[in-house]
Amino acid sequence: MTNHRIRDDYQSVRKYSEDLCAPLETEDYIPQPVPFVSPPKWHLAHSTWFFETFILKQFKPGYQEYDPDFNYLFNSYYNNIGERTLRTDRGNVTRPTTKAVYAYRQHVDRCMVELLESEQDEHTLSLVTLGLHHEQQHQELLVTDIKYILGHNPLFPVYKENHNLLSGKNTDTGFLKISEGVYDIGFAGDGFCFDNELGRHKVFLHEFEISKSPVTTGEYIEFMNAGGYSDFNLWLDEGWSWVNENSIQSPMYWHKVKGEWHYYTLAGLQKVDPYAILGHVSYYEAAAFAQWKQMRLPTEFEWEIASVNLDWGQRWEWTNSAYLPYPGFSKAPGAVGEYNGKFMINQMVLRGASVATSPNHARRTYRNFFHAPERWQYTGIRLAK
Ligand code: AVJ
Ligand code: FE
Repeated sequence: MTNHRIRDDYQSVRKYSEDLCAPLETEDYIPQPVPFVSPPKWHLAHSTWFFETFILKQFKPGYQEYDPDFNYLFNSYYNNIGERTLRTDRGNVTRPTTKAVYAYRQHVDRCMVELLESEQDEHTLSLVTLGLHHEQQHQELLVTDIKYILGHNPLFPVYKENHNLLSGKNTDTGFLKISEGVYDIGFAGDGFCFDNELGRHKVFLHEFEISKSPVTTGEYIEFMNAGGYSDFNLWLDEGWSWVNENSIQSPMYWHKVKGEWHYYTLAGLQKVDPYAILGHVSYYEAAAFAQWKQMRLPTEFEWEIASVNLDWGQRWEWTNSAYLPYPGFSKAPGAVGEYNGKFMINQMVLRGASVATSPNHARRTYRNFFHAPERWQYTGIRLAK
């Protein structure tokens, strides 16, 4: 990739994060209502810290650290980089101010553009590319964290009246049959992929069928009305405990108003549209729904092969696969080796992308991953049998 191309990509990706925050008031940048939700200000700062730490400090001659406290404040989880704020303290960092974080972004952007004006080697450019894909991951988290913050305000404030993040609709019906055989899994090609999409390897799949459309809210309401949340026979043991300990009765963001189901959307509280694709369910709910239908969730390998002929991209789809390294997986030396590999324990793989995924950030081989109870992402269900 030429320097100019990557400089232009840098500028447009960086701008998109700020565009996403444009509808926010200063107060919206600060809270961390639960440990897994980070303040928007933190996302803006941390994605900037990534470029400062992994590119500017390494490769820009004479680069001076912008603020020595920022390494401690905005390092997320890199043990190789050193001590850092507790994750649960991210919302307590009212200083530096939001304004100061925007100034940090401006400074790093000026230095990054300067660096990209001159010739850089492949290694540096590949880290810049990683930094851009990293920022795009944080853009999706920005959207879902903003939704969590506003959606847990009793006034259900509107983020944006007309935006492209409303529930999508299905375009297809029925099931797709895939014949048994040995298939290649994992990324192949010249473009960017994360390390967890490698190495490419073969898997054997038995014949299976997979739904051409993810589950809709209307189908899920049938499960709810049939007593899905109170029938322990449908639930995994952990899921049943989760339902009971948290008094779960519906997907996240759902509220009954005058006897009718509503959900919080980024355009405010709305009546549930039964034709909209279901979102905000945990792995436990996905597995229970599939059990109720006497079907199952696809494995990540089935999903990857079938996806060539599926309409996907509005919801992250829970798969029946644990997040594990592919055979031949290797992590990069040093701090960036901590990026994905160390999280390959106790999480499930989600495939696809969502309405909150940034432009040009979806791939058939992309492996997203979350813990089974998590459902603040735009997570949905696709059935297999
Ligand atoms: C792939 C979305 C699970 O949220 O930690 C952000 C993305 N990786 N910074 C996460 C990520 C490093 C990651 N997920
Ligand atoms: Fe990060």
